[in-house]
Formats: sequence, structure tokens, C-alpha cells
Amino acid sequence: MNERNKTAETVFILKGFSDISELEAPISILILLIYLTTLVGNIVILLLVCQDSHLHTPMYFFLGNLSVLDIGYTTVALHKSIDIFVTGDHEVSFIDCMVQMYFFTWFACNDLMLLTSMGYDRYVAICKPLHFTTLMNGRVCTRLAMFCWAFSFLHVLPPVTLISQLSCYTSNIINHFTCDVLPLVEISCSDTSIVEMVIFIDGGLVAIFTPFLLTFISYVFIITTIMKIKSSAGRKKAFYTCSSHLTAVLILYVSIFSQYLTPSGTFKSNKLLSLFNSAVVPMLNPFIYSLKNKDVKSAIQKKLKNVMAIL
Ligand SMILES: *[C@@H]1O[C@H](CO)[C@@H](O)[C@H](O)[C@H]1NC(C)=O
Repeated sequence: MNERNKTAETVFILKGFSDISELEAPISILILLIYLTTLVGNIVILLLVCQDSHLHTPMYFFLGNLSVLDIGYTTVALHKSIDIFVTGDHEVSFIDCMVQMYFFTWFACNDLMLLTSMGYDRYVAICKPLHFTTLMNGRVCTRLAMFCWAFSFLHVLPPVTLISQLSCYTSNIINHFTCDVLPLVEISCSDTSIVEMVIFIDGGLVAIFTPFLLTFISYVFIITTIMKIKSSAGRKKAFYTCSSHLTAVLILYVSIFSQYLTPSGTFKSNKLLSLFNSAVVPMLNPFIYSLKNKDVKSAIQKKLKNVMAIL
């Protein structure tokens, strides 16, 4: 039997949170609640965005895409923890692990790209309001969204292909709740220098730092433009239109940077921060947008009234 076959037959054990045994049950229940809340919240947003004509603007178009993504992202990230909690089955086959990793990284990257597109939408709305309808027309939005999904899908190809080629593992126990890139590299005894370099360039620079930089630049322009507005009511109004997006972006990047740049070493996996990142953040999105946003609030009120009328 050659090395390749051996790897394909590997069965990994996902530790989940079993190493903190006294917290395993509470964390698992919390994960289940978070998952259900994420599903309900994002489905509500999706229904509103598709049905309410007041929400047929670029921002809500991207928010709809973000909701689809968040549902997929948490499902990939959390399904194994829920499985472990319900059935006690920690095993995951090599192929399943690679597929999980592919979707997990794809969705994580797409999350940042969609938020970057939303940042661009806010930039055009605030800094180039007269050109908004030409710059952000339906076709541009659809193409931009399609580009995000396609690019993030393709950019995962190199690191995951390389990781699937790793043949030697010191252990088959993955200290994580899903098959993520870094926990797998950590247990490999093959030479991982190339993989690590690809992860750094492709994951660190392309997938995380570039969207961060573009979003940051958008906000530099947005804030400079807002500062120049003479009336304080005008400033407030302009700021209000991007406050939900800014909140979502800040939470996401703070959580990403604290996950990867903790003092214990740059670019190490960290289970709890990763959980926050892939479970709590997608759950917060619907709330950030519905609690802070008049359009969404009034859309919800209208829907509730309709439902009441039927009952
Ligand atoms: C997400 O983007 C796709 C492709 O760009 C588009 O066709 C679709 O309607 C969007 N979904 C939502 C819910 O807005």
C-alpha cells in the first residue's frame, strides 16, 4: 500500500470541546442555540430582502447574499460539534475532512469579500452619491457578488490541495471543532514549509489582509467625506447609513485579528476565538442590521402586521 492510499484511509478524531470536559455540555448546548438563532435570524433577513421592495437596494442585495453565506458557514463550522454532542461520534473520514475544510475556508473568505463589497457600496453612496445609480446598478451588483463567490471558491484550491497531499501525521486527533487548515497542519509531520507559505500568502495576505485594507480605505474616504458635511444633522444622517455595516466589519476584524495574532504566536489556531468567529459573528449579523436599521425594522413591522391580519 502506498502513502496516498494510507492517507485516504485515515480517520481523524475531532476533539471538539472534550478537552474541557466540565464545559463540554454547556458549550454544546450554547452552540446548538447559536446555530438555531443564526438559522432563524438569517432566514428572516433573507425573506425580507427578497420580498420587501424597499429593501431592493445594493446594500440589501449583498446582505441577502451574506445571509445565505452565514447559514452555510455556520452549518459547515458547527454541524460536527452538534453531531458529537448528540451521537458522541468524534470520527471524520479523510475525504469528509477535506470537503469540510474546503467549504469552511471558502465561506470564511467569501464573508470578508462580501463585506468588502458592502463597504464599496457605502463608499459610493456617501462619497459619490450622484453616480450611485450608475456605479451600483443591478448588473454591477450581481457581477460583484458572483465574483466574490467564484474568487473565494478558487483561492481555496491551492492550500487545500497541498494539505490533502500531506502524508504523515503525528496523530489523528484534531484539536478543533471542525476541519480547519491550521489545526491539520499542526498535527502533520510532513514538511509543511510550502503549505505554510501558501497559507500565509493566500490566506493571510489575499483572503484576510486585502479585504481588510480595501474596507479600511473605503472608510477613510467615507469618514473624510462625512467630516466635510457642514450640518450636524447631515453628518448624523450620512453616518447612520453606514453604521450597521461598520459595526459588522469591526466585530469581524477584531475577532479575526485576535484569533490569528494572539501573543502565543502569529497564525496559530485558537478554538474559542475561532468559535466566536464562525458561530457568534454570523449570528450577530441579522441583529446588527435589524436593530440598527429603520428600513429593516419597518419591513419587519409590515410583515408582522400582515401575519396578524391573517390570524
Ligand atoms: C446573491 O447573488 C446572486 C448572484 O450574484 C444573485 O443572483 C442572488 O439573487 C443574490 N441573493 C440574494 C438573496 O440577494
